[in-house]
Formats: sequence, structure tokens, C-alpha cells
Amino acid sequence: MNAREPVVAVVGATGAVGVEIVHCLEQRKFPLSKLRLFASARSAGKTMTFRGETLTVEELTERSFDDVNLALFSAGGSTSRKFAPIAVERGAVVVDNSSAFRMDPTVPLVVPEINADAIRSHRGIIANPNCAAIISITPLWPIHRENPVRRLILSTYQSASGAGAAAMEELRESTRAYLAGQPYEPKVLPHPYAFNVFSHNTKIDPATGYNEEETKVIQETKKIFNDPNIRVSATCIRVPVLRAHCVSITFECERPITPEEVRERLSNAPGVALVDDVERNYFPMPVDASGRDEILVGRIRKDLSDPSGRSISMFVAGDQLLKGAALNAVQIAELL
Ligand SMILES: NC(=O)c1ccc[n+]([C@@H]2O[C@H](COP(=O)([O-])OP(=O)(O)OC[C@H]3O[C@@H](n4cnc5c(N)ncnc54)[C@H](OP(=O)(O)O)[C@@H]3O)[C@@H](O)[C@H]2O)c1
Repeated sequence: MNAREPVVAVVGATGAVGVEIVHCLEQRKFPLSKLRLFASARSAGKTMTFRGETLTVEELTERSFDDVNLALFSAGGSTSRKFAPIAVERGAVVVDNSSAFRMDPTVPLVVPEINADAIRSHRGIIANPNCAAIISITPLWPIHRENPVRRLILSTYQSASGAGAAAMEELRESTRAYLAGQPYEPKVLPHPYAFNVFSHNTKIDPATGYNEEETKVIQETKKIFNDPNIRVSATCIRVPVLRAHCVSITFECERPITPEEVRERLSNAPGVALVDDVERNYFPMPVDASGRDEILVGRIRKDLSDPSGRSISMFVAGDQLLKGAALNAVQIAELL
């Protein structure tokens, strides 16, 4: 390791996203002189492996950032709100996976394939967008920049890992209990998860009828595309899948557009892979998206309900622990 390279901290290193951040740093050979791993007191003393070395997880405290140059946070909004400003004060740049700073007008909200330039304006904190937003809009950007998307309607099929490591365990345990015919009391999510589907487990805003996840997708799309006029509606749903979110997307462009044009624009787009085999009925699936950097796109077809020819429907699947969180954060760090 080169001493002139940054000291990097992963905050929330033991979580679903944190573990993937450590993998991404290793896989992408991120230049660093030292890696420090932080979590709550619960996990202090646990060990993790990085580049063949055993590293010990430390309890996060106000002194944790004294020698840190870059801090990748994925430990929830309240931890970010408390500790990210402390890290910045100590001289670190923070890439934050929580929703704490995303809609702060002074904080860039970045998907490198879309708005890498926004990073330049950072004042110490850069926000990583909501995972459902990243998965939904990364494949739309190559279309939007040529033929602006004016209206977007999406429905998500969100996996357990989007709610963290404990929700993944709840899906495994409740499925085992269901198959064994035993009762299971949900601890993490509000409803039975095995063999069930339910509306996203965030609070509904009584003023709009949209839950927090849907509101994030709507607001963050406008901010990342830097387009306050794009009209977005979202329905966010949890499905009993361990990893990778899917989204059914219908969008309307300013001018007519064909499925062939969409395929053409997406065929070489960064961060996207076409999986659109009509003959074999083979389209994006979570099992194929899991562990992959690219967002898979398929079922690309004309929206028959719009006779103007300006609307397209498609289906995407993306590993939200990677492109929806850890990978996107590490890509931002690489740009820094
Ligand atoms: N999961 C996703 O797909 C996804 C996608 C985008 C963004 N995010 C965001 O990323 C963050 C983490 O999500 P996750 O899914 O990885 O959750 P998780 O699996 O529950 O992990 C949470 C991590 O935060 C640590 N932590 C909790 N409270 C802490 C505290 N007071 N001080 C220090 N560390 C603390 C936990 O440490 P312990 O082991 O000690 O409990 C653990 O390492 C959340 O803000 C989430 O909204 C998640």
C-alpha cells in the first residue's frame, strides 16, 4: 500500500451495503493506504478480510475520523446526520448512502453515468441516491438526453436486501418456518414475508398518498436529471426476493420513439446490459442481476395505450446492493 494514497473508512461495514463496499474496493483495486472499518458497539471486535488481511471492526466514535481522507457511509440516516459533518470537519470527504442529505440543495446527488460533473460542487458530502431510483433511471438517461422523458410511471419489485441484512435473514427464517408449517412472528418488516408481497414498509404521506420510498424516487429523479418538470409516479412494493430490485417502467418522451431506437441507445450505454430475448421469453430477472454491476433491461415495447407513439414500456432488474448502493458509492469515490 502506498502511504500517499488515501486512508479510507467504511462506516456500517458489517451491514448489507457495507460488506459490498469492502468487496467493491477490493475488486476494483481502489487505491488506498489503509482501510478502517466502523460499525456500532455491537459489532466492534468482529473481523473482516480485505486483500488477504484480517481487519478488525471498530466502534464508531467522534474520534474515528482523525486520520481519514475518504469516508463511505452506510449506517442509516441518523448515524450519517451525526457523524458525516464530524468527518468533514476532520478533513474527510464523505460519500453517504443514507437519505440524510440527498435533497439538501448544497449536496450533489450523483449517479456517475448520469451527472458525474455534479461532484465538482461538493462541500465535503456527496449523496448516493435511493437504490430504486438508481436502478430505474440509469437506463433512462441515454434516452432522456436525446429525447427528453416528460412522464415516467414505475412500479418496483424490491428485494429483502434493500431493507438490510436483518430483513434478508427474516426472509430466510420465515420461509423455513412456512415450509415447516410453523408460526413465524415478523421482527423487521411489518407483514409476513414468505410467499407474500406488500406495499413498501415506509410511512405514507397523508397529503399525497405516496410512501417515503416512492417520494424519494420521484424527488431524486428530478434532482439527478436536473429537470424539475419531469412528471413521475411510483408504486414501491416488497417481494420475497433476497437480492436485486426489479422495476416495471413506462415512460413518455417529448417526441415519438420506437423500441428499436431504445434498444439502439441502450446497447452501448454504460452500466446497462440488454436482456431482451423475445423468442426464448428471457428477460431481466433478479437471479441474473444479482452480483452484476450492470442493470439488465428488457421487455422493451411500445406502450399501446399511447397512440402518439411517444411512450415505451420496459422491465429492468439491478443489484441494488451493488449499482443501487456500494458500487455507485465506490464509482463516486473513484471520480474524486
Ligand atoms: N440495502 C440497500 O440496498 C441500500 C441501498 C441504498 C442505500 N442504503 C442505505 O444504506 C444504509 C445501510 O443499509 P444496509 O441495508 O446496509 O443496513 P444494515 O444491513 O442494517 O446495516 C447497517 C450498518 O450500520 C451499522 N450501524 C447501525 N447503527 C450504527 C451506529 N449507531 N453507529 C455505527 N454504525 C451503525 C450497523 O452496524 P452493526 O453491525 O454494529 O449493527 C451495520 O454495519 C441505510 O442508510 C440504507 O438506507 C441501503
